[in-house]
Amino acid sequence: MNDRAVSASHVLDRVLVLEMVRVTEAAAIAASKLIGRGDEKAADAAAVAAMRRAFDELAIDGTVVIGEGERDEAPMLFIGEKVGGAPGKGPKIDIALDPLEGTTITAKAGPNALAVLAAAEEGCLLNAPDVYMEKLAVGPGYPEGVIDLAKSATDNVKAVAAAKGVAPNEIIVCVLERPRHSALIAELRALGCGVVLIGDGDVAGVIATTDPNTTIDIYMGSGGAPEGVLAAAALRCVGGQFNGKLIFRNDDERLRARKWGIEDLDRIYKLEDLAKGDCIFAATGVTDGSLLEGVKYLKGDRMTTESVVMRASSGTIRWVKGDHRVG
Ligand code: FBP
Repeated sequence: MNDRAVSASHVLDRVLVLEMVRVTEAAAIAASKLIGRGDEKAADAAAVAAMRRAFDELAIDGTVVIGEGERDEAPMLFIGEKVGGAPGKGPKIDIALDPLEGTTITAKAGPNALAVLAAAEEGCLLNAPDVYMEKLAVGPGYPEGVIDLAKSATDNVKAVAAAKGVAPNEIIVCVLERPRHSALIAELRALGCGVVLIGDGDVAGVIATTDPNTTIDIYMGSGGAPEGVLAAAALRCVGGQFNGKLIFRNDDERLRARKWGIEDLDRIYKLEDLAKGDCIFAATGVTDGSLLEGVKYLKGDRMTTESVVMRASSGTIRWVKGDHRVG
């Protein structure tokens, strides 16, 4: 459900929504120079450094709540790092970011690598630990509660099919291609569903459920929890439903979650639990994908970018085409 009744945040009003695109553009352009170069770390590092610099151009008092890892793991854009050019003076904004969502995709020149961020008022984005999250998502237009992570994949497919007025074998499900998903894929295939397997990039996979051109009805399976919060912020703006449950593989991960204030480790999070109030989602394509075109180098000294920026309170989605001088 796209909650159009959500009130606009004056804090976010003071941040030019379009300015957020400059930040994702900068990260995407930096990463694009390493497309197909086989070096995931270099591509990620370039995107991180460019995003960090671009944030400092914004008159905000920003805090990274989802970033590149904890302080001892990441030199830049770590969780808790202050970003923005107006510390102590500008509006207090919490930021979830992934300067390069799809490091392997970029290294291999595959589809759907993005530079992404979500921004909201202080305290409105879940401080998700870097663990896996079981995800289930559908696009807009379904009755609230049509999906339920507490139920089986089969029950969810049947519920979505009934709401759509089609047979279960007409439902298309997007799943990350991973050995851990083999039982899920077998269950979906037994129902006759179309299964779209993606190599990486589940933020784009979740958002694909909102775009009729992709034909994808449901997103299912586990991926990064930080990516779950970013995808939820996008769905808050564009519409759709999302269920997410954190997966803990060991005590260290449980400890991390408790450190970030998560007490109910079995909770099923819905959209508003992950990104509440007004929020902004911005993304720029690094490589071509279902959501956005990647960075293109033209003849001469020009290059183009494609970005999207959305806001929950207005429901406005802006597609931004950039034509830049190669720096
Ligand atoms: P990176 O950009 O960090 O490589 O993440 C890509 C991604 O595919 C995410 O979209 C997804 O949430 C996660 O990795 C899945 O993790 P794993 O590769 O361990 O299955």
